[in-house]
Amino acid sequence: MHKSVTVNKEGTSDVDLAKCRAILSKYNRSTPSDLIPILQQIQDAYGYVPQTALSEITAGTRIPLSKIYGVVTFYSQFSLVPRGKHTIKVCTGTACHIKGATDIKKKLTEALQIHEGETTKDFKFTYEPVACVGTCFLAPVMMIDNRYYGKLTADKAEATLKNY
Ligand code: FES
Repeated sequence: MHKSVTVNKEGTSDVDLAKCRAILSKYNRSTPSDLIPILQQIQDAYGYVPQTALSEITAGTRIPLSKIYGVVTFYSQFSLVPRGKHTIKVCTGTACHIKGATDIKKKLTEALQIHEGETTKDFKFTYEPVACVGTCFLAPVMMIDNRYYGKLTADKAEATLKNY
C-alpha cells in the first residue's frame, strides 16, 4: 500500500497520489491511446506530471515507463517539474527578433529574476522563449497563458506583468 503525503511544490519528494489514482481508476481497461488523456489530466490536476505519478501510470496501465517518459518529454504541454500559475512566452521568431524581442527578454529576466525556462520562486510565472507564435503583424509579441500582447516595448512587457 502506498503512503499518502502532502504535495511538495519543489517536486523533489513525495506527492499526494490520490488525484493520480482517481484519474487512473477511470481507465481500468486502458489502451496505449489513453496515455495522453491520462497525462493531460494529471498535468491539470498537479500543474505538472510528478515523477512518482509515472510509476503509478505504469502500474495502472502496463504501459512501459520508458514510453511514458518519452511522451512526457516529447510534448511541450507536459512538464516533469512544477510550473508557475502563468506561463509567459516571448516570441523569438525573426519578425519579433528584428523588432526588439531581445530587449523584452532582457527586461523580463531582470523583472522576474529568473532565466529562460525557469519558474519564479513564488510559482507565479514560468518564463520561456518560443518560436513564431503566428502573429508577426503584432511583433514583437509575448503571450501570457493564452493571451497575446503585441507591439511591445521592454517597459510595456514589464508593466503587463503587474496585471497578474
Ligand atoms: S516572429 Fe514573432 S509572431 Fe512571428
